[in-house]
Amino acid sequence: MCGIIGYIGSKDVVPILVESLKKLEYRGYDSAGIAVVDENQVHLKRVKGKISDLEKSLKSSTPNGSFGVGHTRWATHGRPSEENAHPHRDCTDSLVVVHNGIIENYLSLKKKLTDEGHTFRTETDTEVIAHLVEKYFRGSLEKAVQQAIQELEGAYAIAVISLQDSGKIVAAKIGPPAVVGLGDGEYFVSSDLNPLLSYTQKIVFLEDEEIAVLDSQGVNFLNFQGKPIKKNADHITWSPLMVEKSGFKHFMLKEIFEQPQVVRDTLKGRISLDSGKVFLEEIGITPQALEKVKKVVIVACGTSYHAGLVAKYFIETLARIPVEIEFASEYRYRDFILDKNALVVVISQSGETADSLAALRAAKRQKPLSLAVCNVVKSSIARESDGVLYTHAGPEIGVAATKTFSAQMAALALLALYLAQIKGKIQEQASLPLIEDLQRIPHKMEKILNQAASIEELALEFVSFSHFLYLGRGINFPVALEGALKLKEISYIHAEGYPGGEMKHGPIALIDEKMPTMTVIPKDNVYEKMLSNISEIKSRVGYILAVAFEEDEEILERVDRVIPIPSANPLFTPFLTTLPLQLFAYYIAAKRGADVDQPRNLAKSVTVE
Ligand code: F6R
Repeated sequence: MCGIIGYIGSKDVVPILVESLKKLEYRGYDSAGIAVVDENQVHLKRVKGKISDLEKSLKSSTPNGSFGVGHTRWATHGRPSEENAHPHRDCTDSLVVVHNGIIENYLSLKKKLTDEGHTFRTETDTEVIAHLVEKYFRGSLEKAVQQAIQELEGAYAIAVISLQDSGKIVAAKIGPPAVVGLGDGEYFVSSDLNPLLSYTQKIVFLEDEEIAVLDSQGVNFLNFQGKPIKKNADHITWSPLMVEKSGFKHFMLKEIFEQPQVVRDTLKGRISLDSGKVFLEEIGITPQALEKVKKVVIVACGTSYHAGLVAKYFIETLARIPVEIEFASEYRYRDFILDKNALVVVISQSGETADSLAALRAAKRQKPLSLAVCNVVKSSIARESDGVLYTHAGPEIGVAATKTFSAQMAALALLALYLAQIKGKIQEQASLPLIEDLQRIPHKMEKILNQAASIEELALEFVSFSHFLYLGRGINFPVALEGALKLKEISYIHAEGYPGGEMKHGPIALIDEKMPTMTVIPKDNVYEKMLSNISEIKSRVGYILAVAFEEDEEILERVDRVIPIPSANPLFTPFLTTLPLQLFAYYIAAKRGADVDQPRNLAKSVTVE
């Protein structure tokens, strides 16, 4: 939550900060601000609202400066307002700080600093950082930052500038991510890679308890004790085009349409269509260690949790290893039992979700093997796990996860096959038909996307409904959950995902003509059971839509509307059934005029607990 950016170089600083903030806006968007420094003043511009509001306010007066910092906020302490927007100032207005994270001991620090004569102007936790750095400042900004952070408890990525030690940005982090971009005579610090890709692909990932000091000559790195450290840059292959809308109205729609390619990219180079072998040695855990795994525990949040539910079916069906799946936010506080024969799989697109990271850390105390399934390269969860399986989805900008869900399912299907082969549950040759089925999935996804116009037409009939029920069974129950989550988070329509068989134990009481039901019913081992559930709803005058195989004629008689999908191996149907539900939610939300890419109250990377 929250995005920070800092720039120092010879270019015009304000447009760079503003453009960068637009690319970080998915992290939070209730207020925004920048601070730039010229020879004798720190110029501050802050607004309540989005980056577009900041841009408007900059039109009336654009400050000049040679370096600066910026911030886009997702409020934790203090309501969204201009005063609470970052950057935050010290008493002298000559030092400012931007911050992503939470300072847990800010109240006691605030009291102490107030007693020492500091004047606070905001309700935020961040302001204590500005006053603490002011307190310790004796001419060197990095020394003052280094001393100030010794007193902070909590999680933070910060960037600080000061007029008294000008021409410098000092960044430090514990917890939330911070990356440093090394351009040609220009240097950046940012919450993630996206803003930097237009300027440089040379990136240094800041680790916890590290400080970066950026000036016009380059970047020096220190540890929290002030000792210089050497850090190497990584060359990042993501391109700037990946973070453009490319003609689509919203990032979400673009990302929905990218899914066939994302699945291809995630499978690429990891399977052999000749031998049937799955190659995942890249994950960094040896096959010998994986062979000993007796239990898999998956922890994740939100959409990643739904991918985990699908993975339970993949792994139990193919590798015959029992799988537990847990919300990371619950798991981390449980007195759970693990041993060295357990494999903990943490699924996280961002690799920074606070609860997932905390669950991983808690799990690691019992010394199981740990594997991250992440999209963002070198993210915290990826770095702290024993191994990492990357999803090759590219940057996802829409706050609602779409393409990363498909990429996670693809990576997890590969993991299941890999474990099955290592454990001898399926021989390589016998895997071939499954691998071929998986290979055919992207083409089938394309066929569904080609029907987007008719899904839009259907969706528009449901724009004014207030409640929806989503039902699925077996491996498509998680898809029902995901479909309901997509609808509620972007259109603000109440939607519940439910396993079809549980309907009669309560939710069926809700059914009336005002509550349509979306059913997910490919032809699989629970098809007949789903038909029974459909009959139960129909007898209570419920309106029913169905995502079903295109050659399924029976379903046409049973429900009111059908969204056809190509038939596929039942195990891989979630790749297909998900797409119509994403499009359905998207078209309803877009028609309702909702802010599809940045739904209210949400942020893409939830780095608070
Ligand atoms: C929903 C959504 C969220 C995330 C969740 C976990 O569309 O995007 O539910 O899935 O916040 O995020 P990651 O995967 O980054 O850990």
